[in-house]
Amino acid sequence: MDNLALNLAQFIREKSGVSRLTLTDFRNYAHLRINARLAPIIITGENGTGKTNILEAISFLTPGRGMRSARLADIRRIRPALVSDEYSPTEISNLNWAVSAQVCKGDEEIEIGTAVERAAREYDDDDFRSYERRIVKINGQKITSQSELGKYISAIWLTPQMDRLFRGGSQPRRSFLDRLVYAFDVEHAKRTANFEHLYKEWYQLLKNGNAHDAWLSSLEENMAGIGVAIAAARRELIAKLNKFIEHEPDDVFPNVMLELDGTIERLLDTLPAIDVEDYYVQKLKSQRRNVLYNDNVDGVNRTDFKVYYKKKRMPAELCSTGEQKSLLISIILAQTKCQTLDKGFAPVLLLDEVVAHLDDLKREALLEKIRELGIQAWITSTDPKLFASLAEDAQFLTVKNNGVTEQAL
Ligand SMILES: Nc1ncnc2c1ncn2[C@@H]1O[C@H](COP(=O)(O)OP(=O)(O)O)[C@@H](O)[C@H]1O
Ligand SMILES: [Mg+2]
Repeated sequence: MDNLALNLAQFIREKSGVSRLTLTDFRNYAHLRINARLAPIIITGENGTGKTNILEAISFLTPGRGMRSARLADIRRIRPALVSDEYSPTEISNLNWAVSAQVCKGDEEIEIGTAVERAAREYDDDDFRSYERRIVKINGQKITSQSELGKYISAIWLTPQMDRLFRGGSQPRRSFLDRLVYAFDVEHAKRTANFEHLYKEWYQLLKNGNAHDAWLSSLEENMAGIGVAIAAARRELIAKLNKFIEHEPDDVFPNVMLELDGTIERLLDTLPAIDVEDYYVQKLKSQRRNVLYNDNVDGVNRTDFKVYYKKKRMPAELCSTGEQKSLLISIILAQTKCQTLDKGFAPVLLLDEVVAHLDDLKREALLEKIRELGIQAWITSTDPKLFASLAEDAQFLTVKNNGVTEQAL
């Protein structure tokens, strides 16, 4: 066994993942409690029974808007009775959803809770409107930044929507990339959220056309500072993964080469961060007009994440659908191992309907890799028979009638 394999084997003994998951008024579940093993967890059931909803709930234990990028209001359970004649929006809005979990990280056990809270925002002098925001508690203490979660748990998900990841616009690729960065750099979640916030404010001020120059300039300086930090963190991740992949077997899941395509990231090749920051400030200033004309504003909010099939030197977007899926799996496996070695704990994998589209060889290879890594992976499927090879190693759950039952082995 080489060094890397030895190190991984050591970490595998330090199990991590979600050991208890409790949902309240979350999607189709009024109340659901799962005692989970730190092992592969196979969730099966017919279409529309609530398999993906369980994975989505786990994704809310990490920063952001979860696996479906949902609006908070859509997650709250809709009670069939209320959708009938007696439908009343106020009644519905009193029913708040919550996810709570016990998370293990080596010997540590951490309680994480997340829920929505109503708050009021002032629009005009006497126009207060209520809105909802997600609050997070760690061991009972409300935290101010969701990025704190990254110290205890991280998750990587693959969903059927991601089958089109390499073909469509750059936004989903960018968020996929940024989530990979969170795992190594917990501050990155805060940075991307802050950048988005500042960008929206800047954009709106320019659109409204009544902003003071000093105000815009101060936003541009802040955006440039955070933007360069975002670019640097992304570069670091890409370099780390590419280096790691050099030592990875090039098997059924072919090796990838990763690249960033962004102006700010590229400048960091040759210029010190401080100069790139100055450049970015000037660039934003010179792009104020773009906002008025609805033209694109270049910067870290437009960076693309390029993936290549390494051996073939083929851009992922030109690969076949099956190859693209394998490349994605290859990325998340590399990230899982790299992150485990680097951070000392493994991410939780959320694999939604992933095996259905793999041939027998690839499916068995993926399940074997997951088993070997000894990590917690939540895997959904309509067909439990596909998981016969994990009979000894996995926990089998069946979803039916808005509830979950466990299969005895
Ligand atoms: N807010 C909600 N309240 C109640 N049910 C919901 C809500 N959002 C989605 N659902 C229901 O959840 C089910 C889909 O669950 P999902 O986890 O996607 O199923 P699958 O098992 O196919 O993955 C659908 O039947 C949908 O109507
Ligand atoms: Mg589903």
